[in-house]
Amino acid sequence: MRHPVRTAIFPVAGMGTRFLPATKATPKELLPVIDTPLIQYAIDEAREAGIERMVFVSHPSKSAIERHVMDDAALRATLKQRGKAAIADALQERAFHPGDGNVIFTMQNEPLGLGHAVLCARDHALPGPVAVLLPDDLIVGEKGCLAEMIAAYEAGTAGHLVATMRVQEEETSKYGILSVTAERGPVLAADGMVEKPAPEDAPSRDAVVGRYLLDGSIFDDLASQPPGAGGEIQLTDAIARGARRIGLAGFRFSGTRFDCGSKAGMLSATLHLAQGDPALNAVLAAWRDRTRPFPEAAWAAE
Ligand code: UTP
Repeated sequence: MRHPVRTAIFPVAGMGTRFLPATKATPKELLPVIDTPLIQYAIDEAREAGIERMVFVSHPSKSAIERHVMDDAALRATLKQRGKAAIADALQERAFHPGDGNVIFTMQNEPLGLGHAVLCARDHALPGPVAVLLPDDLIVGEKGCLAEMIAAYEAGTAGHLVATMRVQEEETSKYGILSVTAERGPVLAADGMVEKPAPEDAPSRDAVVGRYLLDGSIFDDLASQPPGAGGEIQLTDAIARGARRIGLAGFRFSGTRFDCGSKAGMLSATLHLAQGDPALNAVLAAWRDRTRPFPEAAWAAE
């Protein structure tokens, strides 16, 4: 058995350029799918997985993330006064409370890459392996992706375990691709990973997405690593270095992943979740059969 995974790191300091102008004043991680911000889905997933400490690596311009995550007693009091106690209670249930030493915000003052963001969390991580969740990868399924991964990891897979999904051959250049050596159920033994290879150079079609369980030695590997592509400290490079020493595996999670850092992914996620919401079915039906107007929409003239 491995050491338990006690810490989750949420890198949320990026610029979100693919989603401008929406992300000019609103952090990408607060964009909602239906009514819930992306960061909240990731927090819920980490909670379900039994994570003890959550470390948010943010940027000074993105303080709204902290305001969302932390409890707002004044807002709750106003809601209660206005007869909306149920909403106030629901907010309180999901919020973190000031003084909770296991919720930490630390700053990455310059977006120097995902690897650098993870390194910024070093002093706040509890001993042992850490989980890293990228909130713009929304993973929806019966069981949370992180919980599934932790069960596999703690049973003893490899020092680093990364979430993977199969992609089309022509899509390999958009992802980190795992160099797979053997398959055992959902676990893929690997001897490395390659960042964004052309299809003819891709070692497999197993693409790495935004959930990682990383041995604690990742911090030393990141600290000693020179900047890679784009002058950024790449997490992929540090994981690949550790692979030789402590082993690397991929995990084919059972849920569906949406790249909510892109417009197409965000729309897909919204439609997917709307399908499961009876209150929104009328909208989808109107879209499908085109014979009636959308609910809650009105045309000035026909
Ligand atoms: P992305 O690769 O999606 O980068 O980061 P981004 O800069 O936010 O978005 P685009 O590509 O410009 O549209 C994945 C996650 O890593 C965080 C982001 O906030 C996001 O949650 N990140 C990225 C950092 O925390 N720091 C960085 O330097 C880069």
